[in-house]
Amino acid sequence: MIVPLLDRLERQQLIVVTGKGGVGKTTLTAVLGRRLAAAGRRTLLLEVDPRESLHQLLGTEPSGGAIVPAGSRLWAQNLQARAVIHDLVREKVPLRVLARRIVESPLFQHFADGAPGLKEMAVLGYALRMVKGLYRRKVDVVVLDAPATGHGASMLAAPILLAQSIAGGQLGEMAAELSGFIADPSRCGVVVVTVGEEMPVQEAIELVQLLERKMGRSPELMVANSCYPAPPRTMPREADKPVATLWRERYQVNRRELERLGCSWKGPLAELPLLPLDRGPTLIEALVERLEREVG
Ligand SMILES: Nc1ncnc2c1ncn2[C@@H]1O[C@H](COP(=O)(O)OP(=O)(O)OP(=O)(O)O)[C@@H](O)[C@H]1O
Ligand SMILES: [Mg+2]
Repeated sequence: MIVPLLDRLERQQLIVVTGKGGVGKTTLTAVLGRRLAAAGRRTLLLEVDPRESLHQLLGTEPSGGAIVPAGSRLWAQNLQARAVIHDLVREKVPLRVLARRIVESPLFQHFADGAPGLKEMAVLGYALRMVKGLYRRKVDVVVLDAPATGHGASMLAAPILLAQSIAGGQLGEMAAELSGFIADPSRCGVVVVTVGEEMPVQEAIELVQLLERKMGRSPELMVANSCYPAPPRTMPREADKPVATLWRERYQVNRRELERLGCSWKGPLAELPLLPLDRGPTLIEALVERLEREVG
């Protein structure tokens, strides 16, 4: 039996949303969050970008690091890797004074900032612990608004690289567990967002290849966001001609680039329209509906 794509995404524990800067990753994170929560899943949306914007899309207060409610069965959190690493140290070193001395020491800060893959693993590890119920609040699924393309891919690859270089020990075991989690398409889904323009499409194609090469897996879904609607066929009035020409040109660029994307990406592709709505809950509601029509 073919399980509809959104149903398959609903069964996952972690969904990583990635793509080029500015294409609509945070928007899609909010869209997936609303849809998953409506389907009955307790959902946490994680934003790692310190310039918080997820709350504007959800119509909530900014998180400032805390878990904030964003509707029935839905929460959002702006998560900084450094804060997760500090929490882990505090957990391992119960003596508060000592724990504070460790995290405040320049040597530790240098290590936490510089150790390759550590911050990425801290964020993914946090997501895994959330769905395992190891924190106070247990959720069914985490949707991670990952950094833009290159960084998003390195975030996903970090546990695999660390697991290959550190065998055993707490860090090695954590890396091995996380790399198994990330590589398992029944538990972790990847959603790539793009728009129908040359550079974002190129990055999306390269990201798919990178995921294949580094992790032996492909994304569950590609979303072509902000697609121009088809321009009207009737001749515009003289005064409207420049706008009509611009509209037609952007539409044609979209079609051409999405066709190019379709030549190398054969998996599910959802097209979401560019809507004349401000960043906010109304935009998200409208896009949830469109996503359901595309891949529901
Ligand atoms: N389909 C759409 N229709 C209309 N506006 C949209 C659509 N998708 C996204 N937007 C708007 O585009 C802007 C950029 O979207 P968003 O912040 O989600 O991108 P991003 O990929 O997360 O960016 P960054 O890489 O900077 O984090 C936002 O103001 C958002 O409201
Ligand atoms: Mg964003």
